[in-house]
Amino acid sequence: MARFSQHGIEQVKEAADIVEVVSAYTDLRRAGARFNGLCPFHDERTPSFSVDSREKLYHCFGCGVGGDVIKFVEEKEGLAFADAVEALADRYGVEVEREAEDPKAEEARKRRARLGEVLERTAGFYASFLWDAEEAGKAREYLASRGLGDQVLRDFGVGYAPSAWDAVLKRGQSAGFSIEELQAAGMLVRNKQGNPYDRFRTRIMFPVRDARGRVQGFGARAMRPDQKPKYLNSAEGELYRKKRTLYGIDRARAAMAKAGRAVVVEGYTDVLAAHQAGIEEAVAVMGTAITPEQVQLLASHADEVVLALDADRAGREAMLRAQRVAAGKRVRLRVAGMKAGEDPADTLAGKGAGSDAADAFRATVDAAVDLPVFHVRMLLDDADLSSPSGRDRALDEVVPVLAAMPESITREELERETAGRLDADAGLVARRVAEAGRGEGPGARPKPVTKVEARAGAEDRAGAPTRPAPEAPRALSARERRERALLYMAIASPADGQEFLERLTAEHLSSPEVERARDWLAGHLEAPMEGLSRDDEVLVSLITDLVMRAEREPASRESMELNFLQLEHSMLEREIESAAEGGGDPSVELQRRRAALAERIAHFETAR
Ligand code: UTP
Ligand code: MN
Repeated sequence: MARFSQHGIEQVKEAADIVEVVSAYTDLRRAGARFNGLCPFHDERTPSFSVDSREKLYHCFGCGVGGDVIKFVEEKEGLAFADAVEALADRYGVEVEREAEDPKAEEARKRRARLGEVLERTAGFYASFLWDAEEAGKAREYLASRGLGDQVLRDFGVGYAPSAWDAVLKRGQSAGFSIEELQAAGMLVRNKQGNPYDRFRTRIMFPVRDARGRVQGFGARAMRPDQKPKYLNSAEGELYRKKRTLYGIDRARAAMAKAGRAVVVEGYTDVLAAHQAGIEEAVAVMGTAITPEQVQLLASHADEVVLALDADRAGREAMLRAQRVAAGKRVRLRVAGMKAGEDPADTLAGKGAGSDAADAFRATVDAAVDLPVFHVRMLLDDADLSSPSGRDRALDEVVPVLAAMPESITREELERETAGRLDADAGLVARRVAEAGRGEGPGARPKPVTKVEARAGAEDRAGAPTRPAPEAPRALSARERRERALLYMAIASPADGQEFLERLTAEHLSSPEVERARDWLAGHLEAPMEGLSRDDEVLVSLITDLVMRAEREPASRESMELNFLQLEHSMLEREIESAAEGGGDPSVELQRRRAALAERIAHFETAR
């Protein structure tokens, strides 16, 4: 797809209301042109997070994060840059301008857009058919009997495909789509004679959308028990890739970001029932084992994923596969203790938020255990504990799982639990685990947490990797404060600022990062945020900080001059010091310049 033009990106930023966007995550209070609040990126009690509504920037003076409204959406909603731009464009009703693209790519993009339109229109058709058509009366009754209310059905765009062979075929054609397009979108199939007909008939239709709400395909539920398969899904095609899709992600995204948690259920109706019961961070893997792509997608939205899958054999296997899939990813997998045969759709059916059933489901999710803990208990549950040899086999199975866990209170407790269940000595279990851990060699195991870390995390934190908290910035030195002040004053007062930027050399500056900021500003002083490479997080954060300070700090030619002289002075000091360290005498010339500078600085300071 052709890249967005710089102009197009600026238009989106122009249209977006950053205060509104951020307010979904933290309460902001106005203070002049700025809004302040608690940082939504780190834990804090006093507000150090600031939003500039004019420049459309955010910055946390506590943890150092910052950027523009697009960056905020990328970070908080787990979207890639292009998706964040488009999400904002959708939300604020602008079309993103793109650079001219090569004809082939343009054609491919147009085709995808056409096929996407077929899916959107067809979803709309199915939805109105469900509510309006007499033929769909049974489907409405069935859904109501499952406890699914009108609101949630409408929110998810659930629909009904009529029994006719050509409802979508005819409508699609009269809307100007070719048979080839309708087929490529997955709406038509052909019989042996090669004649096209509607793929979905007499079925309840669940549109499957991507994170941004674009229809990718459908899951279609049979109405009668003899109608096979129970669910007919869109074929893998140009748009639909089941392994990359999570049903409900578009409606769960915000709740996941807010809760920091995703809840994974089995199927379509489970998602609807969960949302209706107020568990809006629920998505479905649609019956199959969770894939690496799905884990990746979840990890970009939440730090913690709770698997609330059927507790039958297949569900357990799926959970263990998930554990392998998640290895090495920054996401904590937990398992909710669902009772065998328990289906959230049925236990929650019809119950709204705050009902006993909703509370019970939420409590089950809250009480989820870390996957290794679940795994060990599952092995113990399945073991033959009646004979010593059976218990030995169980121990053999459990030991590697325990050894793969970081040394922690959680693991110790689990070792004791294992010993208890196997009627073994706790020391034996611990020795076996330690041996297995050594046997794997260095690096094979996650770094053991220290006792202190384990205690800080208590039993519920120690078992899994968590996203590291953003590092608190260290205090800046006087020199660093001066060089930054000079840079933000240059932004505030670009006519004079340009001159000072050119006078600043690498020797004046404290680090390569600040040098890069100087270089960037020297070429982009009028609009420093424009065109800044988004991958360069260090630079983005530094420039954001400077631009926001420029907004509120006074700048004058005099104060820039003073700051420059002070930087020059400290540069000379360093030169003199290093000459002295080298054993030589600092040159008279250097010392003379330093004295002259000190005099000018003193003069400046008294004049002010
Ligand atoms: P289930 O058989 O548990 O269906 O399959 P369900 O979700 O409980 O459906 P209802 O509540 O009876 O309507 C779980 C999920 O597996 C996928 C679907 O995504 C379904 O929601 N599935 C199941 C299929 O894709 N094809 C099938 O034939 C069956
Ligand atoms: Mn089910």
